[in-house]
Amino acid sequence: MSFKVLILDNVNERCEEVFKERGVEVVRNHDLSGQELYDEIKSYHGIVVRSSTKVTEEVLEAGENLKIVGRAGVGVDNIDIEAATKRGILVMNTPNGNTISTAEHTCGMILALTHNIPQAVDKVKGGGWDRKKYMGNEVYNKTLGIVGLGKIGSEVTQRMQHFNMNIKAYDPFASVEQAERLGVELVELDELLGTSDFLTVHTPLTEKTKGMVSMENADKLKKGIFLINCARGGIYKEEDLPALIDEGYVAGVALDVYTTEPPTDELYEILQHPKIITTPHLGASTDEAQEKVAEQIAAQMADALEKKDFEGS
Ligand code: MLT
Repeated sequence: MSFKVLILDNVNERCEEVFKERGVEVVRNHDLSGQELYDEIKSYHGIVVRSSTKVTEEVLEAGENLKIVGRAGVGVDNIDIEAATKRGILVMNTPNGNTISTAEHTCGMILALTHNIPQAVDKVKGGGWDRKKYMGNEVYNKTLGIVGLGKIGSEVTQRMQHFNMNIKAYDPFASVEQAERLGVELVELDELLGTSDFLTVHTPLTEKTKGMVSMENADKLKKGIFLINCARGGIYKEEDLPALIDEGYVAGVALDVYTTEPPTDELYEILQHPKIITTPHLGASTDEAQEKVAEQIAAQMADALEKKDFEGS
């Protein structure tokens, strides 16, 4: 049986190449939405997305022949997993391909934040010069708190240890052996919030992680903490960030991710705060990461489609 796959989002061209090498027919169309998408999707066995396409119950329903949804990346929050499971549609992601890029982006954000680099760049490009205003802080000998000691958290650890940071982590799933191997002290969340000079999160957005830092628990934070989020928007309560900074709880915030992307007007307003630095969800946006996730998702989907289970079904 021959299989057909539709690429719906801006996935690196290696995806098509790998599918073709594996004998899978592949079509790319980024412009589909609504009824056009429902009509087009009917004849495909697989679809590939990043985060733009929302794979809703309606999309899955329209995919009469759909066997697999492939996410070229980690987060599957744009896919209705429950609806897919109900229909026996496999959902796959590529948990490794982005790791290095996201870890590097996080480390870049930590340094940019503490050395006021984005604000200083803006100043100079605007024809200004102010060395006093952009006085920074070293990360040397400071404590970096990591929530989530998975792949990205571990890579951030190794990199920031080279800057001589002490690393503590909160991760209910991490083992003592893993922490020891990495040279990380595992602590409870409250201790992490209360002892970290910098806090970075590497977890999905869940009921447990949503609003992990907000005005409500501001008293638990070490005074003058720096917050970094390159994971998912909403782990720090966005609307509370300006007050957290202005009232002296937080020294600065670096965000790559937002509850709505692109941000709403209200959110853009919040992001104007001079102590909040921002990038537009760039954690995985490197040539290397995009090539890896594109190749990986195509290879995984081709493997699964070739499996006997799908034949003739
Ligand atoms: C991911 O979940 O893979 C990252 O957030 C990057 C992306 O959305 O492509």
